[in-house]
Amino acid sequence: MEFDFSLILNSFPLLLRGAALTLEITALSVGLGLVLGLILGLSQLSKKPWLRWPAKVYVDFIRGTPLLIQIFIIYFALPNIIGSRIDPFIAAVAACSLNSGAYIAEIFRGGIQSISQGQLRAGLSLGMTYGQTMRYIVLPQAFKRIIPPLGNEFIAMLKDSSLVSVIGFEELTRSGQLVIAETYATMEIWAAVALLYLIMTLSISQLVSFVERRYRLSDER
Ligand code: ARG
Repeated sequence: MEFDFSLILNSFPLLLRGAALTLEITALSVGLGLVLGLILGLSQLSKKPWLRWPAKVYVDFIRGTPLLIQIFIIYFALPNIIGSRIDPFIAAVAACSLNSGAYIAEIFRGGIQSISQGQLRAGLSLGMTYGQTMRYIVLPQAFKRIIPPLGNEFIAMLKDSSLVSVIGFEELTRSGQLVIAETYATMEIWAAVALLYLIMTLSISQLVSFVERRYRLSDER
């Protein structure tokens, strides 16, 4: 078999566009997932059962069902209920954020629980409210510890976002399929697609190490 580099070169602009969309979906999903995850993580730790239980059920449901099915539900089933089509981009970001939020909730919960109870009590005994103690004492310490697992989630989401290719959203995987449909260059294009994913995931891990180092420096000061 001959490896035809000119095919890769010609289709590169299309693949790059796909890669940019993959990054966009991932960044938006992890960003929204962080907000959702923080709320869910704190709710899971709450003493109030009406906050704790819905959060737990949500996390269990999302983690216990495939992301692929969640995408199908949002893109194909939900429009039947709300009575209007959902744009593939919106459906993709919604499915990935709702999914990521559940995973990030567990990361936050673990991080917060790893901070000793004494820190919480110290804050409370200084007259701070529960919210203030969380905000100014517990969360800043927890955040430092959850950077590595958050980096993992970022990388996992970037790769799992390839699942939204099934609803026809032209991210990197779908772009690869479309280029192959025209060129039949399966080996060349899938190799190029894999390489682009690899470049993106390696860049994210570099970025995460950089943030970790920054936090460590601020510790030593
Ligand atoms: N692959 C798993 C699934 O299909 C996990 C997807 C979610 N990934 C993530 N990074 N949040 O359910």
